[in-house]
Amino acid sequence: MRPLVAHIDLDALRHNYQLACRCAPQSRSVAVIKADAYGHGALACARALEADVPAFAVACIEEALSLREGGIRAPIILLEGIFSADELALVDQHRLWTSVHSAWQVEALLAYAPQQPIPVWLKVDSGMHRLGFPPEEAPSVWQRLVNAPQVTALHLMSHFATADAQDASYFNRQMAALQALAAELNAPLCLANSPATLAWPAAHGDWNRPGVMLYGSDPLEIANEITQQLRPVMSLRSEIMALRELSVGEQVGYGGRWKAKRPSKIAVVAAGYGDGYDRHAVDGTPVLVNGQRCPIAGKVSMDMLTVDVTDVPDAVIGSEVVFWGTASNGAVLSVDEVARYCDTISYTLLTGVLPRAPRRYHRAHI
Ligand SMILES: Cc1ncc(COP(=O)(O)O)c(C=O)c1O
Repeated sequence: MRPLVAHIDLDALRHNYQLACRCAPQSRSVAVIKADAYGHGALACARALEADVPAFAVACIEEALSLREGGIRAPIILLEGIFSADELALVDQHRLWTSVHSAWQVEALLAYAPQQPIPVWLKVDSGMHRLGFPPEEAPSVWQRLVNAPQVTALHLMSHFATADAQDASYFNRQMAALQALAAELNAPLCLANSPATLAWPAAHGDWNRPGVMLYGSDPLEIANEITQQLRPVMSLRSEIMALRELSVGEQVGYGGRWKAKRPSKIAVVAAGYGDGYDRHAVDGTPVLVNGQRCPIAGKVSMDMLTVDVTDVPDAVIGSEVVFWGTASNGAVLSVDEVARYCDTISYTLLTGVLPRAPRRYHRAHI
């Protein structure tokens, strides 16, 4: 069997969720498990968290329905709401919560007769300029929804554009707009994503929406003492499948991007961009071989990548290689660090791991 496996540590997931709750003890924390729980497997993650969370958040109804089919009974909020009016029947039938970000969604909701009122989060565009009503339009929409028989538990919701950054100026502008609106409407709020949960207590609302931190990634520009307590949930591991001894000047892989500057031992590892490992990984991107940091050497191929293991005397065929997460010897390589080498963010690496890399779930420490 090909040795590539994405090990998912469900204890770490629960630990990180509890950390999010401890950061914001006055708030209820929705666990954001959209995009298949950021690539970790939404159903398994939901089952692991269901006893603790007041609600889950997904992007769309398809994601919510597959959780319901898998037996998840907890409330589920659709962060992007419905994509067509006929989805309201499913929202109603499956007791989902929905957000509304556009006028047509409001009209569809108010034209529908649900069996029971639907919990609704009214999305306000406080500066992300993606989805939501502008703050000046939000009060009139709020007034239409707040007493409507179709609606219950109406909240204001908004999303931050820069909560991960050190510079708080734009964040503060968004907060000021939201606080003014919440005061005017006496509205409960759901604002904080992971970086705001971790770094901006002022943004902790009645609800928060932590996502990536649940999976152990640190979303902040500069780590703090809380983010250092996050534990990686996914450990993407494979093995050395072949070894090469190269002389000075010999090259490795497509285009010969990497050339040996010394007599070198190169490990060929079973994982490539066909598994979701980022092809943008530069020479020097770290992996752990037998728990020891080693640099990628040469371009990532579809099914294989190559690593300079000259300094790992015990590297043999079958040796463990960790792309991010925890090695068997306890060494950790953070997905955030790997993402920097790939000029991307942890979110794309985690959601990008393809089904070709089977997920294996662990409840005790792996
Ligand atoms: C509306 C909304 N809320 C919350 C989140 C969670 O954000 P994060 O993963 O940064 O915690 C996202 C993620 O994209 C989102 O789109």
